[in-house]
Amino acid sequence: MSKSRFRIAIDGPGGAGKSTISKIVAARLGLEYVDTGAMYRAIGLKLTEEGVNPEDLDGVERVLGHTRIEFSDGRILLDGRDVSGSIRTPEVSKAASSFSRIPCVRKKLGDLQRIMSETSDVVMDGRDIGTNVIKDAELKIFLTADPMVRAQRRFRELQEKGKAVGVTLEMVYQDICQRDYQDTHRELNPLSKAEDAVEIDTSHMTIPDVTDAIVRLAEERRK
Ligand code: DC
Repeated sequence: MSKSRFRIAIDGPGGAGKSTISKIVAARLGLEYVDTGAMYRAIGLKLTEEGVNPEDLDGVERVLGHTRIEFSDGRILLDGRDVSGSIRTPEVSKAASSFSRIPCVRKKLGDLQRIMSETSDVVMDGRDIGTNVIKDAELKIFLTADPMVRAQRRFRELQEKGKAVGVTLEMVYQDICQRDYQDTHRELNPLSKAEDAVEIDTSHMTIPDVTDAIVRLAEERRK
């Protein structure tokens, strides 16, 4: 890998602001943005649509064999279909978290993500980017926030998109806690802070505060 590469790995639990912040940081630094959570969500959506459950490992492997995931103009395509909107539901969040512990799912998406990070300079966000996908990233960030603050953010997001019908803040909070548990306790590539990552607690920070802090760190590292 040449010295001029610059890749930023941003990991952390759901609702810590990773996607919003990563997108802005990528635009400010002229890097590609890769949302790996969206990839796990697309797989979760496909397997749910196909009626496969997470215990059916053969079924998962069979469906993965004919599943194509791509990004195009900031949209995520599942077998050529734009699913950018339909992957943002509480059901798909749950499915993504459940299927993401299966080795063949992690291998397929991890390989794809590695290729993306080898061909472009990226800001890649997820759960295992700094610890597994881009272990030698030039900058690693671990974004956290208090679980109730994250639930409030997710709930507001759902309300703004008109997707909060029948959903309460308490339900979103329980979902967040359950996903945190699943994501940090799975056997393969669990969510954890890389030793060399810079931890930023976003609970009481604005989006511009966080993006400024990351851009500053990136500019220092790039020198
Ligand atoms: O970031 P998100 O909420 O869109 O991610 C959805 C799920 O995908 C999350 O619960 C765990 C899984 N995921 C993962 O296992 N590894 C990643 N690099 C990104 C997401």
